[in-house]
Amino acid sequence: MRTPFNHSIYVLLAAMFAASVFVVQPVVLADENAVEQGKKVAFDRRAGNCLSCHLMEDGEAPGNLGPPLVAMKARFPDRQKLRDMIWDITTSRPEAMMPPFGRHKVISEQDIDNIVEYLYTL
Ligand code: HEC
Repeated sequence: MRTPFNHSIYVLLAAMFAASVFVVQPVVLADENAVEQGKKVAFDRRAGNCLSCHLMEDGEAPGNLGPPLVAMKARFPDRQKLRDMIWDITTSRPEAMMPPFGRHKVISEQDIDNIVEYLYTL
């Protein structure tokens, strides 16, 4: 027998589904934005300019002073360590010929976070 209670369950489920779509969507979009922004700053010759020393994805005319940035998530599972290297690589590798982007305020903290997001897609 159908009761008003049964009906309201369907309405509730539909409402929960609709709510989940609205709640999940902005988070996904934010992550995509971070990756896109990170790539932009990394490739920008007047910002990160990572390409002048690293081969990265489809970047044009990469330099080879630094190692190719590939398989980043597998090689650097600790996100904080990867971030620290971009902030100031000389703390872990004193001889590294790479600018300390965070310490010298060449790249903002937010942009460094975005670059890490981007590197994790490589
Ligand atoms: C002036 C050249 C130069 C620029 C510009 C540069 N790097 Fe580097 N980078 C290096 C060198 C050289 C190393 C290797 C250091 C070592 O192992 O001693 C390195 C190492 C790294 C590593 C460790 C990679 C590995 O496989 O060990 C990461 C990650 C990295 N760089 C990210 C970046 C990012 C992101 C940017 C741009 C924001 C950037 N680098 C810009 C020269 C550069």
